[in-house]
Amino acid sequence: MAAEQNAGPLDSAFYQPANTFFSAQAGVALTYDDLTLSTLYSEILPRNASLDTELAGGLRLHLPVISADMDTVTESRMATGMALNGGLGLIHYNMAEKQQLKEVSRVKNHVHGLIQEPITVTPDKTVGDVIELIETKRYSFSTFPVVGDDRKLVGLLSGNVLKPRYAAKPVTGALVPRDQVQTLRESQLDADPIAIADQFFTDHPGINKLLVVDDNDELRGLFTLSDIERITSEKQAQFRPARDGQFRLLCGAAVSTPRDTDGELDRERIETHIGALIERGVDVVAVSTAHGHSKGVGDAVALIRAAYPDLPIIAGNVTTAAGVEYLADCGANIVKVGQGPGSICTTRLIAGVGIPQMTALYVAGQAAKAKGVSLLADGGITKSGDIVKALTLADGVICGGLLAGCPETPGQVMEISGKLYKQYRGMGSLAAMKSGSAARYGHAPKDTNRKVAAEGIEALKEVSEDLDQLLGQLIGGVQAGMGYLGAATLPDLQAKARYTRISPAGQKEAAPHDVVEMKASS
Ligand code: XMP
Repeated sequence: MAAEQNAGPLDSAFYQPANTFFSAQAGVALTYDDLTLSTLYSEILPRNASLDTELAGGLRLHLPVISADMDTVTESRMATGMALNGGLGLIHYNMAEKQQLKEVSRVKNHVHGLIQEPITVTPDKTVGDVIELIETKRYSFSTFPVVGDDRKLVGLLSGNVLKPRYAAKPVTGALVPRDQVQTLRESQLDADPIAIADQFFTDHPGINKLLVVDDNDELRGLFTLSDIERITSEKQAQFRPARDGQFRLLCGAAVSTPRDTDGELDRERIETHIGALIERGVDVVAVSTAHGHSKGVGDAVALIRAAYPDLPIIAGNVTTAAGVEYLADCGANIVKVGQGPGSICTTRLIAGVGIPQMTALYVAGQAAKAKGVSLLADGGITKSGDIVKALTLADGVICGGLLAGCPETPGQVMEISGKLYKQYRGMGSLAAMKSGSAARYGHAPKDTNRKVAAEGIEALKEVSEDLDQLLGQLIGGVQAGMGYLGAATLPDLQAKARYTRISPAGQKEAAPHDVVEMKASS
């Protein structure tokens, strides 16, 4: 019955599957706002729609959203937040190689709920010193681990002794001594740290701080009961963190492909850096360039593939079937599609090239299917509806601008005329190229000292809500789209999508109109 409801000849004549629709549009390139999806009979409740996607063997996300490898978008804080929400962050490479290794380690060593560098006090202080510390720093907590200069745990100073009447007492006279403080060994945390801490608090009524120490009794972190309770209640949520086989968060990194003085790829440096990233647990590397269908990029991908046969490689960017075939043949598992759609991109204006995203995704997708590689829609995503449309043709999306206002991005907040902003710049902007990304746009680093045509701009994004809230909104939107199409999974969405073009008047009709908006919906 359901199938019959969906297969009526009238609907089929107007709302067409990808092959029929895009073939009929050959000669005009379309992007997200040029088309819409028709709804279908559905038995799927949006909240039950699964967003799981497998990008390469062993690289499985629960949310098909990746934060862009841009220096104003993804460092460890953003990558950690993305993986905690089921997605992935690609750490950019406009930093020293050593620094990038540290950023990857921070994500891979992140223990959710564990405060890794808790505020401590030293035994030489008085209770009065600690009270003053709380007042001047405006701490909202009042229990402090006490550690010596050697970082060894000396005891725990509890909030109920931090009273003016004890101000003159030395901390050593007021603390709970080490042998009476309950602790966990770091080595006990490997499987599921939250479950272990949760059980500890259940077994020890009245204790609401749990200290973690290493084998030398040096302090390694702190769990609080309130954090654990919040996290365990969130665990009921559908979107589990994206983790590797050792329960560590997933993390990706963009890699540069430097050349030696003869212009040849610097094999030793590339292999050493990627080897070090793998040692730290990186799950995927990205060779991100403006023109992926080029010898330099293909050679770099082939070099990495030969050195690390099992490492998932993202490569791009392309907008043609031949480009996908080329990168797949060179060894990429995942190909990025997008030339010029980005919110800070000027490639189409400067170089006159690039294809609007939906057509590019359809054409590239034909080759991706034939070659067995995954596809990422990279750039130009401004709302959850764009993600739904992209996912009818791709396995995941990459977002830069949409995430760039979050507190989790690198960079300072600035205030202009009473509004708060963060910097967001293209990796092909002159400033970013000077910081290291010149090769991505086909320039040698020294080229940026003379005139080169920038292919990106420096911009500002208004500060947005935090990443969890923002992703919550996006997930809700994508699941709503899947519900409208009766799609329980992303492969279902791809199979069921039916498209039609929309007119300029139809575009106007799609957004709020003819009202005075009092409150934006997102
Ligand atoms: P959004 O629209 O999410 O786009 O802000 C992010 C994507 O844009 C690409 N990118 C650039 N493209 N010039 C370009 O032509 C640039 O300077 C530039 N910087 C980033 C990149 O693919 C990113 O993921």
